[in-house]
Amino acid sequence: DSPSVCLQPIIDSTNQYLMNRIGELDSGSVCLAEYQQAGRGRRGRQWFSPFGANLYTSMYWRLEAGMAAAMGMSLVVGISVAKTLNRLGADGVKVKWPNDIYWQDKKLAGVLVEMTGQAGGAAHLVVGLGLNVSMRDKEGGQLDQPWTRLEDACEALPDKNQLAAALINDLISALRQYEQHGLGMFIEQWQALDNYYNRPVKLLIGESVIRGIARGIDAQGAILLETEKGLVPFVGGEISLRGE
Ligand code: BTN
Repeated sequence: DSPSVCLQPIIDSTNQYLMNRIGELDSGSVCLAEYQQAGRGRRGRQWFSPFGANLYTSMYWRLEAGMAAAMGMSLVVGISVAKTLNRLGADGVKVKWPNDIYWQDKKLAGVLVEMTGQAGGAAHLVVGLGLNVSMRDKEGGQLDQPWTRLEDACEALPDKNQLAAALINDLISALRQYEQHGLGMFIEQWQALDNYYNRPVKLLIGESVIRGIARGIDAQGAILLETEKGLVPFVGGEISLRGE
């Protein structure tokens, strides 16, 4: 295997760049940019990508286990990123199901996993990470949800190249572990990092709202809510604190 690294000052989207080249890449290949003209987020949203202020990076991964293993993998991505940031001095970085990164109840980073592949075959995944590093209020002011940046979460901001290298290396190790052992060994780590664990939340799925107490994830990667009907797993939707 020989993963490649692509560094671009300006790009449409680092995810798109890798999606266009899937047949040519080895697992672990990455693309990083300083600015994205068409950065994208989950649910068809755009990802605001001001020049030089943040980290925009994507990694290609070939998942032999196929599409069914993608849900677990996206949780492992969140766990890996949160652990790396905690280790680099951002105390109290948490995860929000399925794979957002939070600090003090505000969004610090987002993960977008895109994939192609055929039933029964390997899945080809592109994992994109957008991490707010030093974005200013005037740059991010119009965002529609509370956000924060690494500069606020860290006493000393790590060097951006070292930060990128640590995130990428840790992610490669975590994905290898996941491929070997599955999600089971990550469930406790998730619990320790879960921003919502044991807190009253609501889950928005389409038009319906489910209220409950968040109790982590199950072995399939579903979010567990304790509702009036007992402990119920959910595989979709968006969670938030009750009262928000
Ligand atoms: C989200 O929270 O909605 C996910 C945001 C993912 C943004 C990153 S930035 C690098 C990569 N390239 C993209 O176009 N999107 C992801």
